[in-house]
Amino acid sequence: MAVSGPVVLVGCGRLGSAILEGWLLTGAVAPADLIVLTPSEKPASEAARARGARINPEPEALRDARAVVIAVKPAMWRTVMPPLLPFLGDQAVILSVMAGVTAPTLAEGLGGWPIGRVMPTTGVSRGRGVASVWAADPAARALGRALFEPMAETVDLPDEGLMDAATAVAGSGAAYVYAFTEALARGGQAAGLDKQTADVLARATLRSAADSMGDDALETLIARIASPGGSTRAGLDALDQDGRLTTALRETVAAAVRRNREMG
Ligand SMILES: NC(=O)c1ccc[n+]([C@@H]2O[C@H](COP(=O)([O-])OP(=O)(O)OC[C@H]3O[C@@H](n4cnc5c(N)ncnc54)[C@H](OP(=O)(O)O)[C@@H]3O)[C@@H](O)[C@H]2O)c1
Repeated sequence: MAVSGPVVLVGCGRLGSAILEGWLLTGAVAPADLIVLTPSEKPASEAARARGARINPEPEALRDARAVVIAVKPAMWRTVMPPLLPFLGDQAVILSVMAGVTAPTLAEGLGGWPIGRVMPTTGVSRGRGVASVWAADPAARALGRALFEPMAETVDLPDEGLMDAATAVAGSGAAYVYAFTEALARGGQAAGLDKQTADVLARATLRSAADSMGDDALETLIARIASPGGSTRAGLDALDQDGRLTTALRETVAAAVRRNREMG
């Protein structure tokens, strides 16, 4: 069901456009309830306008806003938000998708509105994103879920401090999977395939594996392919020899968490 009441999207860049496209695709927000604030026209904002959204209306239009989603760069919100605040009513909830800007920092800069944080991936544009939601305020948490669940697999984080870990897994994870795909292709090349064939096979394999993943336990999925004594089992044993895959990914995620914290 669509979130009722106006939803304001502040910023229509890479992520803001993806969110807007996801809302239009899934109907999470009715187009007539969408307000988009963007300094420059974007294909997503124009598509939303064509469906009835209001783009850069007079600030009085924010009075009834149910949610304000901040999707500008972390360096920009302190400039962008203060002029909007006098127009917001008490019913508004502020949701930030900015990486590394904590709720206490936002509260100190924005005042008394309930604040939530959501860390989505740009896959929301196709209704197939991932989103981590955290808010101390239950209404902000519920609204965050209602806005992102239709277009993302959404998890609730029990503690804001886990946002960095969630970002290191879900935000950065696609790049790790692409790096794995690249390495798989190079492995195929080393075994005699030409580069183009190895690339096609590795990419197609990752797509097919993602399609087949469903919700079964990962051990079950592995066991379905890797029969004891078979070639896949031999490959897996080499892949995680002495736990090196597990160690590499633990260190990978830890490094990304550290960097997220440094940037915050
Ligand atoms: N990209 C991702 O995958 C991703 C994932 C998770 C979180 N995030 C977070 O999402 C936020 C946006 O990232 P991004 O990659 O989408 O950056 P981006 O492409 O640079 O988008 C930022 C947008 O903010 C707009 N903006 C600047 N001043 C504004 C104002 N006064 N009012 C309204 N909009 C204004 C810019 O408009 P103009 O284009 O007209 O200058 C720009 O389109 C960041 O805080 C980032 O941490 C991004």
